[in-house]
This record gives sequence, C-alpha cells and structure tokens, in this order.
Amino acid sequence: MTVFTGKNVVVGVCGSIAAFKVAGWVSTLTKMEALVDVAMTPAAERFVTPLTFASLSGRKVYSAMFDGAADGSMAHIDLGREADIFVVAPATADIIAKLAHGMADTLVTTVALVARCPKLLFPAMNVQMFASLPVQENLKKLRESGWTVVAPASGSMACGEVGKGRLVEWQDAQEYLAAALSRQDLAGMRVVVTAGPTREAIDPARFLSNRSSGKMGYALATAAARRGAVVMLISGPSSLPAPPLVTLKRVETAREMHDAVMAESAHAGVIIKAAAVSDYRPENIAPHKVKKENIETEMRLVQNPDILFALGEKKPKGQILVGFAAESRNLEAEGRRKLTKKNLDLICVNDISASDAGFESETNRILLLDRDGGEERLPLISKLETADRILDRVVALRCTP
Ligand code: C5P
Repeated sequence: MTVFTGKNVVVGVCGSIAAFKVAGWVSTLTKMEALVDVAMTPAAERFVTPLTFASLSGRKVYSAMFDGAADGSMAHIDLGREADIFVVAPATADIIAKLAHGMADTLVTTVALVARCPKLLFPAMNVQMFASLPVQENLKKLRESGWTVVAPASGSMACGEVGKGRLVEWQDAQEYLAAALSRQDLAGMRVVVTAGPTREAIDPARFLSNRSSGKMGYALATAAARRGAVVMLISGPSSLPAPPLVTLKRVETAREMHDAVMAESAHAGVIIKAAAVSDYRPENIAPHKVKKENIETEMRLVQNPDILFALGEKKPKGQILVGFAAESRNLEAEGRRKLTKKNLDLICVNDISASDAGFESETNRILLLDRDGGEERLPLISKLETADRILDRVVALRCTP
C-alpha cells in the first residue's frame, strides 16, 4: 500500500524533450498502484508516442479532443471529473500561457478547466524562456488560481545551456504528488526528527558507532513533510539522500546532535528522536592515526548527554516528544520505563532480535506506547507506512490535552 494506491492520476504531457522522462514517472506511478491516465498534446506526440505511455500505464492514452466521441464519452470532462490529482509535465511555455488564460484548445487545457482536484505544474524549458517576463507572469497567475508550480531544477539542458529549466527528477516530483494526495493534518507544524547513528572518533581514521542506517528517521521526515509539516531532519552519518521538502542538518557526534536539537527544540511542536545516539565516546581522541602496535587494549569512555532526557526535562506545554527504544526482550516493560523516565508522550519500541525489523531493514514491526497507557502493536510494514502510523498517534495526542 502506498499513498498512490487506487488514486486516479491524470498526467498531461506536453511537447518538450523532457517528455521522455515523464514516461518513467508514469511507469513508477503505475508500479505504485496508481491508475494513471495520460493526456498528450499534439506536440508531445512528436517526442514520445502514445503507445509508450499506454504500454507503461496499461491504460488508454488520450490525445485528440474528440477521442471516444463515437461511443458518447467525453474524455476532457471525464478525465477532469475523476482525477484525484492532475499533473502537467513537462509544462512548456506554450501550455503555461494557455492554462493561465483559460484556453481550451487541447485535451490537456480542457481537462485543466474541468478538474477540481489538486493541480500540479512542472515547467521545463530553456533557461531564458523560463526567466522571461511573460512566463513568470503566467506562472504567478496560475499560482494565484490554485496551481502548485514546482520550480524546475538547475543543470545542463538539451539546448546546451546551463541554468534553471530542467524538469525536476522523479525523486523530488513524487513528494509534491504525495503531499497533494495526503491529508494536511500537520500543516505548518514544526517537526524536528533525528535519524541515523552518531560517530565518536577514536583517532582520525577510527570511530565508535552502531548499525543504524537512518531509514526510519528519514521515512518519518518524509511522511511528516507530505502531511504539511515544516520538517528539520538532524541526521548522523547516513548514506541516504536528503529527503525533498525537508531541511537537512548533518551532524557527526552525539554532542553535535545535542547542540543541533537544543537549538531547534523551543520552537518545535513535535520532536521525534529516531536517532541511535552513541551513549559513550572515547575520553580522548588521538590527534594522529594510532599505529596498530601502539593501540591500547583498554579504552576509557565517557558518557554522552542523553538528548531525549534533556528534552523531556524542559518540554514546553503542548509539545509532543517521541522516543525510540531498541530492545531485544521485555519490550513493553522497558518501553514504559523509558517513556516515564524521559517524560515522553509516545515511545516506539523496536524488537531488534527480529531480522525483518529494526536496524538497516526496509520494514519495521513496532510497539507503540503512549503517555495515557495506550498501546498499539503495528504489523510488519514498510518504514514509510510505519512513519505514517506513528504520525497518526502524534496527531491524536496533540488533540488530547
Ligand atoms: O535509553 P535509550 O538509549 O534506549 O533511549 C533511546 C532513545 O533515547 C532514542 O529515542 C534515542 O534517540 C534517545 N537517546 C538520546 N540521547 C542519547 C541516547 C539515546 O536522545 N545519548
């Protein structure tokens, strides 16, 4: 199950070389269980054939205004009426002008006039064209009439120029689509999420750390952003790409994470501490790499600050504080003990003895315990689905004083 499952996504494809990239979008959306209807402008068909999109979506592709007229159906009205989301990509200067002025000369522009669902526009064109006054004025007009205009990316273009005008990559685009399909129950809420391990240096080459990949925290940041939150993700070292629509601050040590979290904490409505913070660090860091003949077999450690405990001590009224606990036994008792000790509203207990959940895995099976004695065992689901279930509890807790 994904945010796209069963959703009617109508994609209006226009005449730009970037149309071939949208074929990939349609393929991925279909794999994510969306029902994708493609409407093409005549110019789009010069770049990619309708057969390409039909093969990828497994559905009829609409191109002419009067497609289906013989059987009495009216594609421009049906597509617009049934859409859960309408996406125009790549949006050329021409289609932008037509949409801004309410023209109805192609299927894509007529569907736009009918659709009452969220409408997203992904411009792609030459750098100078995009910067030109008419295009910018038309985009402003479209924003004012409710369109979400996703600014193109910067980079090298098919025309040989370098600058702002490239169609955004799918990884970014999908977050805008997902947000448009998600309930905005965290709209405007400042959410701080920590993720990943921390690293504690022994010398310039070696460190103490743990197996956390950051996947759970990154999923939480992504899910919160989709639900409208203003998300700050504070991450220890992780190989994961920065989630779109999220402000990412990278840190290395527990003390750096402590300082970053504390700087944000007073303004946060929700803080979720998914990071696996190193509890200890070496007392001394060798300034140069220690030769193996000289490595001591005993190392003195000192304790790191418990960030979550510190947050719980000075939690402002109304703030929701969520912790994680990685346990291999007595999950419930350990979870409750930490919830109380750290003054949390919610704790997510991971069973790290299971190989399909917890560290590094794509899925998780979490026990949720809340401050009011509530308990919920989540099934084995993806980390993104787990994140949404955790956020459902956060929203519920915010509503109960
Ligand atoms: O007590 P324990 O380390 O098991 O608690 C885990 C929770 O505490 C996690 O939410 C983790 O992010 C947080 N934590 C912390 N600072 C530490 C250790 C853990 O914020 N030094």
